[in-house]
Amino acid sequence: MAVFSFLFMGASLLPVIAHGNNHQGPLVPRTWEGKSYGCKCYFGDECWPTPKRWKALNATVGGNLAVIVPPESACHNFFNGTLGTIPTYDTAKCAEVTANYPSEQWINEQDATLMWKYFTNSSCVPTTDPSSACTPGYYGTYVIRATEKAHIKAGVDFARKNHLRLIVRNTGHDFMGRSTGWGALVINTHRFQDVKFIQSWNGGPGGYTGSAVTVGAGVQGRALLRQAVAQNPPVTVVTGECPTVGIAGGFVQGGGHGPLTTIFGLAADTALSFDVITADGRFVTADEQTNPDLFWALKGGGPGTYGVVVSASFKTFAERHSAGATLYINSTLTTNATVFWEGVRIFHGLANYFVDNGLYVYFSIGPGSLRVRPFVAFNQTSAQLEAVLAPLKADLTAAGVPFYSAPAVQYSSFFDLYLDLFEDESAGPPTLTSGWVFGRADVDNNNDGIVEAMKTAISPRADLVNQGYMVGHLFGAGHNPQPAGISATNPRFRTASDLLLYLIPLPTDATLAQKADMQNVLAHTVDRAMMEAAPNGCAYVNEADPFQENWQDHFWGPSVYPTLKQTKKAWDPEGVFYAISTPGTEQWEVIEYGTRLCKKL
Ligand SMILES: Cc1cc2nc3c(=O)[nH]c(=O)nc-3n(C[C@H](O)[C@H](O)[C@H](O)COP(=O)(O)OP(=O)(O)OC[C@H]3O[C@@H](n4cnc5c(N)ncnc54)[C@H](O)[C@@H]3O)c2cc1C
Ligand SMILES: *[C@@H]1O[C@H](CO)[C@@H](O)[C@H](O)[C@H]1NC(C)=O
Ligand SMILES: *[C@@H]1O[C@H](CO)[C@@H](O)[C@H](O)[C@H]1NC(C)=O
Ligand SMILES: *[C@@H]1O[C@H](CO)[C@@H](O)[C@H](O)[C@H]1NC(C)=O
Ligand SMILES: *[C@@H]1O[C@H](CO)[C@@H](O)[C@H](O)[C@H]1NC(C)=O
Ligand SMILES: *[C@@H]1O[C@H](CO)[C@@H](O)[C@H](O)[C@H]1NC(C)=O
Ligand SMILES: *[C@@H]1O[C@H](CO)[C@@H](O)[C@H](O)[C@H]1NC(C)=O
Repeated sequence: MAVFSFLFMGASLLPVIAHGNNHQGPLVPRTWEGKSYGCKCYFGDECWPTPKRWKALNATVGGNLAVIVPPESACHNFFNGTLGTIPTYDTAKCAEVTANYPSEQWINEQDATLMWKYFTNSSCVPTTDPSSACTPGYYGTYVIRATEKAHIKAGVDFARKNHLRLIVRNTGHDFMGRSTGWGALVINTHRFQDVKFIQSWNGGPGGYTGSAVTVGAGVQGRALLRQAVAQNPPVTVVTGECPTVGIAGGFVQGGGHGPLTTIFGLAADTALSFDVITADGRFVTADEQTNPDLFWALKGGGPGTYGVVVSASFKTFAERHSAGATLYINSTLTTNATVFWEGVRIFHGLANYFVDNGLYVYFSIGPGSLRVRPFVAFNQTSAQLEAVLAPLKADLTAAGVPFYSAPAVQYSSFFDLYLDLFEDESAGPPTLTSGWVFGRADVDNNNDGIVEAMKTAISPRADLVNQGYMVGHLFGAGHNPQPAGISATNPRFRTASDLLLYLIPLPTDATLAQKADMQNVLAHTVDRAMMEAAPNGCAYVNEADPFQENWQDHFWGPSVYPTLKQTKKAWDPEGVFYAISTPGTEQWEVIEYGTRLCKKL
């Protein structure tokens, strides 16, 4: 705590000039690469709130305002922050941070730390050299550790009035850097952990009266499933495959797919209601009757764009027995690349077939390794799943492709399967991530072309052989027909059967030039190969290249995007909220090497 009060004093030493009554002055004029901008207000700018104002904000949020000091700073002598320099070295804390660094849950519980480090700029990392630099990189300046909706409102009001960059941060999973922002005020929603199950919901979409659950903004997937299966009778919910992704934050606001999507649709399709703090600081409900435009936009229309979700309600479904299986092809079995890729071709060619038979399939592909873990068959027996997998195994055997596959296992509940077969993923090194969704027609007509694009993702360039890897999800969000337009997601998502992520790791100390080069490879070699192989596809809002061209079309398409853009304008006309490549952000740009958020003039 001494650290924070020291910082607070440090702040007052900065040459900051108090600015009149600090109310909605103009954006800060700047020129960058010959163009004129009006920028958000940052430390060092005249408009930056005085220490007195920050202190008043802290009082409003019950003392829950903190300066963002990266936990990694414990391994460094100093944190050279935006508000001054503080001594940070702490042997025990450094050991704790280093040991926990790969742990998803540990990262989720920090103020601002991201799981995927690329968008932090890796400017403060665990080290054995305490004299090395520790600077904020792309992290924010202050965080509100919100515990009540009034704290969220106070943060939104303060950011709006002072033109601060505002970031909403839940678990820090975002692959696309949307839960961090240089010099920002961050609202951390992770402490909103209430869960309430409801036997019969009163009047949801289409007169829904079935069972439901209301979750706080910070609730995570596995924690919710654990409580759901403990209900009487046991129920389940559409969450992500990842145990630690949130539910009411970026997940549902981007659409949200998971192991039950083939059966029950996207998470967005199961949403019943949201409680939201709006850009103008109001607390509103959004459901089918009240604020239906906002309700629809929150169901896949882009994260952190229309308001801050405080809690959300979803349909729940009766738990059922489920069957699961795994399949591996790797170098223990064959090091022959022709044989390996023939195995991938056979597996992937059955994507539509698996989905038509009610399956969800999670897999990863690295150099010489296909790891399918697991095949999920909700409400099926192990015998049913074995029957579904029989053609796959027969085709592999006929082609002389060796594989490991233990017999399918039947679980008494989907949750037992989930615990047994889905694994915690570890936080990664700086990695560029992109993804593409393959249409069913693409799999039918051009599976060979898709497999060629996969080879490109593994080895994108002569000097990048075997550097890439992929993570895939076979599901059919349209398998169980959903009313058209139920969610603000791309209609092409409904006629797809595979969402494939492809990733290229970078060195932690990559230069700006190396980053630009790799981004170029990602966009112009790998993305292009995927898009050309699967022209009926689209991109998933949460798992794609944030810098891609035509994101409006790839994420939403012409029948959805214009309405979302209008909804953004109606609910956030000034641009209090900003997340890259989300509706209505065409005028905004992050300039000066990933730092200042500015409006093009
Ligand atoms: C290992 C891993 C596995 C994944 N698995 C899946 C999966 O199975 N299915 C799937 O669909 N996606 C998956 N994702 C992607 C995931 O859905 C996105 O990263 C999502 O944005 C995470 O949301 P969050 O709220 O947990 O994370 P954060 O990174 O904290 O937030 C993400 C975005 O949501 C905004 N946001 C967060 N909370 C709120 C709120 N209360 N109100 C308004 N905006 C908010 C943030 O501002 C940011 O823009 C996975 C990601 C990872 C890293
Ligand atoms: C906010 O107030 C709390 C409680 O008084 C204090 O511990 C904390 O350091 C303050 N935050 C800042 C940024 O000064
Ligand atoms: C951080 O601040 C300390 C103390 O003022 C200084 O010695 C050090 O050079 C600074 N490091 C960087 C990276 O600016
Ligand atoms: C981000 O990292 C690059 C090196 O890759 C460095 O040149 C730049 O100054 C860093 N920016 C910030 C804000 O830390
Ligand atoms: C290949 O997969 C099998 C089955 O999971 C595993 O036992 C083996 O270690 C794997 N081999 C390699 C090289 O990863
Ligand atoms: C790999 O397998 C293919 C197909 O069976 C075969 O034609 C080829 O000779 C093998 N390559 C090597 C290096 O063994
Ligand atoms: C589960 O299977 C049974 C029998 O096959 C069927 O009647 C029921 O509708 C299925 N439930 C779901 C949710 O798919």
